[in-house]
Amino acid sequence: MIKMHDVHTQPIDGQKPGTSGLRKKTKIFMGPHYLENYIQCIFDGIGGIEGKTLVLGGDGRYFNDRAAQVILRMAAANGAARVIVGQNALLSTPAASHLIRSHETDGGLIMSASHNPGGPNEDFGVKYNTPNGGPAPEPVTDRIFHLTRTINRYHICETADLDLGTLGESRLGEMVVQVVDPVADYAALMESLFDFKAISDLFASGFRMRFDAMHAVTGPYATEILERRLGAPPGTVVNGTPLPDFGGGHPDPNPIWAADLMATMFAQDAPDFGAASDGDGDRNMIVGRGLYVTPSDSLALLAAKAHLAPGYADGLSGVARSMPTSAAVDRVAEALGIPCYETPTGWKFFGNLLDAGCAALCGEESAGTGSDHVREKDGLWAVLLWLNILAVERRPVAELMAEHWATYGRNYYSRHDYEGVDSDRAATLMSDLRGQLPDLVGTTVAGLSVTSADEFAYDDPVDGSRTEAQGIRIGFAGGARAVFRLSGTGTAGATLRVYLERLVTEPGQLHQDAQAALAPIIAAAGALAQIKRITGRTAPDVIT
Ligand code: G1P
Ligand code: ZN
Repeated sequence: MIKMHDVHTQPIDGQKPGTSGLRKKTKIFMGPHYLENYIQCIFDGIGGIEGKTLVLGGDGRYFNDRAAQVILRMAAANGAARVIVGQNALLSTPAASHLIRSHETDGGLIMSASHNPGGPNEDFGVKYNTPNGGPAPEPVTDRIFHLTRTINRYHICETADLDLGTLGESRLGEMVVQVVDPVADYAALMESLFDFKAISDLFASGFRMRFDAMHAVTGPYATEILERRLGAPPGTVVNGTPLPDFGGGHPDPNPIWAADLMATMFAQDAPDFGAASDGDGDRNMIVGRGLYVTPSDSLALLAAKAHLAPGYADGLSGVARSMPTSAAVDRVAEALGIPCYETPTGWKFFGNLLDAGCAALCGEESAGTGSDHVREKDGLWAVLLWLNILAVERRPVAELMAEHWATYGRNYYSRHDYEGVDSDRAATLMSDLRGQLPDLVGTTVAGLSVTSADEFAYDDPVDGSRTEAQGIRIGFAGGARAVFRLSGTGTAGATLRVYLERLVTEPGQLHQDAQAALAPIIAAAGALAQIKRITGRTAPDVIT
């Protein structure tokens, strides 16, 4: 017996306009009516869900299981026809994107705060993806945001918890709840894109790999694909069991948070290849023996060699990168004679380009890489594309990168993050910089001459929309660059991101340490933005 309720409620402090989901402290989500309010705003913001089919799953963090039960009860009360749920309410973000697309659904809800830590005192999040499988665009998220300011009721039904551990269909009132294997469809998609035979042969030849799932959602995916289907030795996947608090770690695949993997890959007896993925499985990290491959360099190498994998054998229609990502991929696109698009930070801006067939490979400096196979970045996909390339090339990662730099030049790259900066000071820093822009070109800063200075705005070539104030970029002579922007995803104060880049083409200088190679740009960026004076910080909190 199912009882429907209309619950009276009050507006909430919802997501910031322009962000594609809501991330808050878990305790806030667990507070009275908070999750319910936000879910109702999503349902109303997409025009109601009566008769619709949705996908639901999350990265397994604390509260994932409880939130799934609430969302299902609300979906039933709001008249949904069907919800396809990953077993135990688990789905990686790319697997959710694939299910939304392959089942031609009306979109889906993904429960995750991506790479942010999880647990009762850490972060939780929910986002809605549209029927194309991608993050909702701004008009949709703006509608949802406005609803969070006026909401006064939500619909929910009263019922015992559903069993989400057993595959198959059941009913919640009129609504069908279909519990699916979270890995199966995704693994089949990977098998359709990559040469699994060649990769299996590579493993059979003694090639050794370490995949660090960081106790997050890619564990079951990587174990099934790498160890069961591709025959990698047991133990190739480490930290492969998703835990509600990610083992107390920070599931963000970069040299800082995946320090264990870095240590393994730089040790005497390092495996041939190392990789990691984040909380919800959309980010990736690539490490060769003794060499960390930056996400910007990885994107460039994948662009140059994607044709070695069956799914991309016909070549790429085009590539796209977020503005702060290095120009390494631009140089490959130029050589291939294909277009390269520059978009604002955030995966949602790639959606139109992928849907329209303008670009087939996209990436961000923040460890996101993906293609037109889904509408999210995809961590394990990037790892498999690398493996397919290595299976064909049969050469060490370091050798492939050295050859790449010798061919295209090397875009030295680093990002310096200043976290938890006072919001007013961060805003002052940006507006001071903005004020300098008109007079900068032609001047010399810390010995470097400024050749361009502007604030990035994006005109979407597909729908004609314009997005402004997407970061301040300063170009220096010889292809060096500094970019300044404030994070849109931080949860405490402001995070200032300073992106530093320098192009080197002289063979003798291709193998320096990145921070050393970038020292002149770092000095110029500090002088221009007056980082020390305005923020009071003497050094970045995180360097990647
Ligand atoms: C960060 C990354 C950005 C990525 C986003 C979501 O956003 O910089 O590339 O798309 O997380 O994973 P930011 O905090 O810089 O706004
Ligand atoms: Zn993520």
